[in-house]
Amino acid sequence: MASAAPNVPRSEPKASGETQNFDLLLPLRSAGSLENPYPIYSLIRTVRPVLEVPVPGWDGPGMWMLTRYRDVHDVLRDARFSVERIRAPLVRDNLDRMPEFLRQSAQGLRSMLIMDPPDHTRVRKLVNKAFTPKRIAALRDHIETLVGTLLDEAAERGRFDVIHDLAEPLPAIVIAELLGVPASDHRRFREWSSALISGMASPNADARAAATEAGRHLFGYLADTIADRRRAPREDLISAMIEAQEERDALSDAELLATSNLLLLAGHETTTNLIGNGMLALLREPAEWRRLCDTPDLLPTAIEELLRFDGPVQATLRVALEDVAIDGHAIPAGALVLVSIGAANHDPAVFADPDELDLARDPNPHLAFGFGTHFCLGAPLARLEAQLAFEALTRRFPKLALVDDRPEYRANPVLRGLVRLEVERAA
Ligand code: HEM
Repeated sequence: MASAAPNVPRSEPKASGETQNFDLLLPLRSAGSLENPYPIYSLIRTVRPVLEVPVPGWDGPGMWMLTRYRDVHDVLRDARFSVERIRAPLVRDNLDRMPEFLRQSAQGLRSMLIMDPPDHTRVRKLVNKAFTPKRIAALRDHIETLVGTLLDEAAERGRFDVIHDLAEPLPAIVIAELLGVPASDHRRFREWSSALISGMASPNADARAAATEAGRHLFGYLADTIADRRRAPREDLISAMIEAQEERDALSDAELLATSNLLLLAGHETTTNLIGNGMLALLREPAEWRRLCDTPDLLPTAIEELLRFDGPVQATLRVALEDVAIDGHAIPAGALVLVSIGAANHDPAVFADPDELDLARDPNPHLAFGFGTHFCLGAPLARLEAQLAFEALTRRFPKLALVDDRPEYRANPVLRGLVRLEVERAA
């Protein structure tokens, strides 16, 4: 079996008062990689494209990392790899040492994201009946108005924070409205969901405790909303999911709760980070920003390029259900596989000049929304929100510039995004 690539450190110092977790995301956290993980991906892809990641203190089937486009693409559609993390002995036998996000997804509510067929097929089919292209397209005018209102408030100040003023509130409000959360509850709902999202993968014990507490409130709130809509349906997604039937089959209360929670989490920070990472990439290349402002027709390919160039979801996990050989490396049954979407999207075997931002890149077969059975359900909504946000930003602020270029990233290297992004009108 392959050993670790030279630049991957073997362990991280333990923060005081923390339990010693296995840090399965170590290769994504390696020196300097939060600011710019792409050179490290490139090094790993070149030196050891099928990399065994050291998990000190564990002798069972371990962890592997894939960085080549063709391997990532193939594994995402290969039924020999499961999304059920709990099937990996590394996860199952060490739940108390797992990062919170894995423990929760292994023990808590089981959503479609961590279900294999046939359960996945059944739940996704029912949810598809409610989360329809028509329902998403109908939101266009409303999202446009929302973007306008948020940018009006930001514009009054001259200098504004793209994350705080637009990228964070926009998807949060849209998903809350879609699910049917009344406007009077938006603030509470957003407070819980952002505490949950930021605490889930945090190394800080207080943030994790706050996330657990927020999760309790949020699940209670969603469960009450589901019970309420069962009694009195409305024109919202939760009511539509309750009504969705397939050959007399319907979603159970636990499935409705897991799906509502997944839509909220999956649809929230990812879109925030597409707008934030995308805006940073554009403003770092003023010629590309001007090009987009002058040529609005470029928007559709530009959004795909921003998804590829610095995508919000850098990786996902799979479990090998049997021994699988990739390029002469035997990945043993039970191994946990870190599938690096960010690395695949910068693979020079598929993308010419992968580290260049080319807003007209076409074709652009990026894997930012995954591939195969679990391809992102919310991709049409994310694309619509990003399109309307960038359309308004380019039209209203063609002279925008970064206040400084010292971006601070959120701690989670899988959900890659900025803490803030201060911009101002250039003279
Ligand atoms: C730019 C924004 C987004 C990105 C980059 C993104 C990325 C992804 C990726 C990579 C997956 C597949 C994960 C895997 O195979 O393990 C996924 C699945 C999923 N996403 Fe998204 N997502 C985004 C926005 C959204 C939105 C707005 C929603 C809903 C409102 C959403 C809902 C989902 C759901 C429900 C799944 C699970 C699908 C399944 O298991 O069949 N996502 N997303």
